[in-house]
Amino acid sequence: MSKVYVFDHPLIQHKLTYIRDKNTGTKEFRELVDEVATLMAFEITRDMPLVEIDTETPIQTAKTKVLAGKKLAIVPILRAGLGMVEGVLKLIPAAKVGHVGLYRDPETLKPIEYYVKLPADVEERDFILVDPMLATGGSAVEAINSLKKRGAKHIKFMCLIAAPEGVEAIQEAHPDVDIYIAALDEKLNDHGYIIPGLGDAGDRLFGTK
Ligand code: URA
Repeated sequence: MSKVYVFDHPLIQHKLTYIRDKNTGTKEFRELVDEVATLMAFEITRDMPLVEIDTETPIQTAKTKVLAGKKLAIVPILRAGLGMVEGVLKLIPAAKVGHVGLYRDPETLKPIEYYVKLPADVEERDFILVDPMLATGGSAVEAINSLKKRGAKHIKFMCLIAAPEGVEAIQEAHPDVDIYIAALDEKLNDHGYIIPGLGDAGDRLFGTK
């Protein structure tokens, strides 16, 4: 079963409060999402493998550690996921970036893939799939399907705010995918918005309505 990690670091929680605030404008909202994505990337990369090397300090040779060079890819779910990409890249600038675009079929209401572009060596990479909101989980589950269909073996899902319904949907469909969140909110309302949530993440990031 997927594990759920809630990043309760005080800096993340502080910034998340202002992200939630309806009086926070587009510029500040975007900056805060970017900053929280960086802080979350710090936590999510805790298990990155290291190798030991010899380093000449001015005093003597020391056994030191550097990253083993595990290949990573960040994949935003379009469009709101785009707001988290730069923040993650600040910490792992060599990561490749893929994209997954989904739309909701007006009749079945199911998410349908309309755009997927991933790095060529999918099977060798660890993927961090990002989307600020995990609501029903429909898009996240379908985006994970899209990655797995193309050969992805190691996927983490990272979002700012999750609803219990979305967490359950991923756990049921993809028990191998761990979930990294800044807050687990109460539930969804009748329109599929997370409550208390932050509203529509895409609209708030891009200043649309
Ligand atoms: N997507 C959003 O942007 N906000 C929600 O509350 C739910 C889904």
